[in-house]
Amino acid sequence: MCGIIGYIGNKQALPIILEGLKRMEYRGYDSAGVALFNQEKLEVIKKQGKFINLQNELKSRSITSSSGLGHIRWATHGEPSDLNAHPHTDCQNKIAVVHNGIIENYQELKRWLASQGHQFKTKTDSEVIAHLIEERNKTVPLEEAVRGALNHVKGAYGLAVISEKEPDKIVAARLGSPVVLGIISQGEYLIASDVAAILPFTREVIFLEESEMAIITKQGYKINKLNGAVSCHQPQQIEWDLDEAEKGGYDHFMLKEIMEEPETIKASLRGRVVLEEGGVKLGGLIDVLEQLKKIERIYIVACGTAHYAGRIGSYLIENLTGIPTEVEYASEFRYREKPLDKKSVVLAISQSGETADTLAAIRLANQQDLLTLGIVNAVGSSIARETKAGVYNHIGPEIAVASTKAFVSQLVVVTLIAILLGRQRNMPKAKAQEIIKELLKLPDKIEDVLNQKEKIEEIAKVYESANDFIFIGRKLSYPVALEGALKMKEISYVHAEGYPAGELKHGPLALIDQTWPVVAVIPQDSVYDKTFSNLEEAKARQGQIIAIATANDEEIKRIADRIVYVPKTLEILYPILTVVPLQLLAYYLAKIKGRDIDQPRNLAKSVTVE
Ligand code: G6P
Repeated sequence: MCGIIGYIGNKQALPIILEGLKRMEYRGYDSAGVALFNQEKLEVIKKQGKFINLQNELKSRSITSSSGLGHIRWATHGEPSDLNAHPHTDCQNKIAVVHNGIIENYQELKRWLASQGHQFKTKTDSEVIAHLIEERNKTVPLEEAVRGALNHVKGAYGLAVISEKEPDKIVAARLGSPVVLGIISQGEYLIASDVAAILPFTREVIFLEESEMAIITKQGYKINKLNGAVSCHQPQQIEWDLDEAEKGGYDHFMLKEIMEEPETIKASLRGRVVLEEGGVKLGGLIDVLEQLKKIERIYIVACGTAHYAGRIGSYLIENLTGIPTEVEYASEFRYREKPLDKKSVVLAISQSGETADTLAAIRLANQQDLLTLGIVNAVGSSIARETKAGVYNHIGPEIAVASTKAFVSQLVVVTLIAILLGRQRNMPKAKAQEIIKELLKLPDKIEDVLNQKEKIEEIAKVYESANDFIFIGRKLSYPVALEGALKMKEISYVHAEGYPAGELKHGPLALIDQTWPVVAVIPQDSVYDKTFSNLEEAKARQGQIIAIATANDEEIKRIADRIVYVPKTLEILYPILTVVPLQLLAYYLAKIKGRDIDQPRNLAKSVTVE
């Protein structure tokens, strides 16, 4: 996700930039850096690791500068290191850039820039922006140079640029990543990714819109469209307090992260699908594409929520590729007694990339010389480093202990991997295109589910005093039911079980009475009728039915006490939609009960013990 900040005015820039970065620490903690003018020369100081490392580094330095930039990083391209930290500079170290987002065509741009003599210092996508600006800035002023450079860039950015040639200016721009301008006074301004960084200094802000640029000097600011047209904005007052601002105005990180899910899907798909070809491009798998053509079995290893994503992933991979796929709890994988087949791949799914059991499973597979892959969110984490290849989620840090947006992203990425493997085998182009087309529609469809959050809150209120919940589903909806039950247990501390709908009659039905809410994940898929019959069984025992069903399903009204509808999609993609109401249900129930939602008792975000 990353956070950018820039200050220009009549005060010392450094303390203001550092305070702003501290307020955005939750957006990334791989590295941090600043760029300032030290006696008119651009100076960049950056440090790997948490923000405190940068603060310590700066303690012994005295830099007097009335403008500058800062960055807090959540790595996407290039491992976390001092070198890959932002700000990035051009060949002459005269232009500095901070960037939040992903440049999809950076390889292509880098090749072209190298052919023009540019020398690259880092492995990041962001560095190309500094060189592109440098190239343009040879003939036109900074503002024009930034505009020209951005014309060549595909991807997402919230960025800010300073240059030694025009030290009293910051040029900022946004496309797909947020940028906010803070007006401290006439002649004193801040630019940042997040109002949290601005609020200690002013409440008067302007949110840049898509494809807009802000040009800020000590004389004032102007906002233009990237095509040069003038934009008109009235500053607005922010009422949030600092704590609320970090959470984007939501009460908890968990709700903020659920509400980010449309963006999460876009970020995980960005630059990775080619609709016309029915193709998937996953940079992290390029080196193993030939090996992947020959694999005969996949073992998915993961823990917690990531494990349930893996269960859905196994259905998807088998369905789309025909490759037998098993899923194991990472903590159990090591107890397999028979050696693993050499033509197998072990795929770890982990948001943090540090879960000890998942890492141990990968080490075991590495010892047996198997191909190991990862679906990981934290770039440079242990699992990312120790797997031989992999795909990053690219969704920024997840702060709430209960995983939500990472689950959605894991499902998207596993679908992409399944398409890639399928296309290497005999999946027709048209089939891949159908899935890709639908994946691209999911952000809007999730939005539709999120818009029903008040209704889901009402449902949580109705069942506030239930002591037990049972979540059921079949086929792809079964792991969704498991995840719904896990979410409820983790954050509301209410007993909840996930069960395959068909197994109800083999035991749990004995429990059901009017005090048990039965949450049924029942989209209109190939097992709809069967799940419906299982619900009849629960209804006949006076169970209270809460159904997660497909829009326009009239039949379900006959049996369900409460219904949350999700938009129609492909059968294999329903989990990405049906899990969302379950995340919200758990959230609201926990909220009503006054639980510590972001940090539930006894649990940790990253479990680094076995
Ligand atoms: C912990 C977290 C869960 C998470 C699991 C796996 O239990 O509380 O939310 O799903 O670890 O974490 P990972 O980082 O490997 O996805």
